[in-house]
Amino acid sequence: MRVLVVGSGGREHALCRAIAASPMLTRLYCAPGNPGIAAVAECVDIGVLDIPTLVGFAQDNQMDLVVPGPEAPLVAGITDAMEAAGIPCCGPTRAAAQLEGSKSFTKEICDAASIPTALWERFDDADQARAFVRHRGAPIVVKADGLAAGKGVVIATTEDEAVAAIDAMMDRKIFGDAGAAVVLEECLTGDEVSLFALCDGEDAVILGSARDHKRVGDGDTGPNTGGMGAYSPVPNFPPALEQACLEAIIRPALKHMAHLGTPFRGILFAGLMLTEEGAKLIEFNVRFGDPECQALLSRMQSDLLPALLAACDGELGDFDVRLNDSAAVAVVMAARGYPEAPERGSTIRGLDAAAARPGVSVFHAGTEAGPDGSVLAAGGRVLTVCGTAPDLRQARDLAYAAVQDIVWPEGFCRRDIAADAA
Ligand code: AMP
Ligand code: GLY
Repeated sequence: MRVLVVGSGGREHALCRAIAASPMLTRLYCAPGNPGIAAVAECVDIGVLDIPTLVGFAQDNQMDLVVPGPEAPLVAGITDAMEAAGIPCCGPTRAAAQLEGSKSFTKEICDAASIPTALWERFDDADQARAFVRHRGAPIVVKADGLAAGKGVVIATTEDEAVAAIDAMMDRKIFGDAGAAVVLEECLTGDEVSLFALCDGEDAVILGSARDHKRVGDGDTGPNTGGMGAYSPVPNFPPALEQACLEAIIRPALKHMAHLGTPFRGILFAGLMLTEEGAKLIEFNVRFGDPECQALLSRMQSDLLPALLAACDGELGDFDVRLNDSAAVAVVMAARGYPEAPERGSTIRGLDAAAARPGVSVFHAGTEAGPDGSVLAAGGRVLTVCGTAPDLRQARDLAYAAVQDIVWPEGFCRRDIAADAA
């Protein structure tokens, strides 16, 4: 099979590695890829949102499957365009990608399908939103309704903070159109977990679960990021609970999406809060998480490629996707200044030594090749260093030992990834 992965992050590097391991693969491409991905796939210089060029490339090179990594091309309709050209694409259509693209769309699905979630209300009038905050009080969660690159959520501990967030999103439009409407939500408390299912429009299989560390600083301090580390398995989220959430959250959502005429195919990421009343849905994403993907795929026992194809063909049936019994800890190394203003251009050394440790994988994200073949930092999240071992404590020790091998004074990472669980 000839496969095109779309994206350039650590998630796509992990996807490429997993797909490259399949005996079914004959040729692997990645657009645009990165210097790490170049070791396992042929990188093609096409941007993830340049859908006409991606379709042309896939046609000219007879792709049997396209696997988009990030949400942006899915929300922009890459699956619709590939399918119109007769090329299977393992991701939702633009209509189904609304599960990530619009918070209120997801909340309406939750209400219609009785999926447990935080109480909510949508406002497209800022004065009414402010009045609701004054009426309900704090804590309260303010969310831009549209896609705001993971930054559109404010957990307001006071009414003033909530009102300030509404001012910024709706009056000052700091997220542009994404903040034209806001969703106000009940504030849930509990441990968070990311559950991943592969879906074929009707059926779903669990890929696994992981816990992400979203804030930039140790002890969950500082601004939210796309994820500074992840681990899998999650001790207080055993397989029985995964299955219960498949039945209570994922299957009802799939059924309702099919009922709406927009069946969901691809990877569905349920962000859950384990509250005292049970697991509740915080949000859906329509793709793998990054860095959760790197941790999960490091534990993948099954051949991922036939499963991705079966999801496109609506033939997941009781397809078995299995993780092994090991534990994985993924530590993100970011450039100094991330997430606000990451420094670019510094040189990273020691990557080979880190990757040479048994059980360690180093995934590239924001890297670029220097003129002399060196590896340079070229973005915010730059590397994911993943350790796989029999248990979380050993996986964590291994990941941090490998981080120590990497010589990059201009980079940093959290030191407490998986610390509680290990
Ligand atoms: P989201 O962009 O929807 O993933 O939200 C980002 C983060 O905000 C989540 O990972 C949670 O930590 C937090 N969050 C979102 N909604 C709620 C809620 N209703 N109650 C408490 N925390 C929330
Ligand atoms: N790590 C969370 C995400 O990918 O959205």
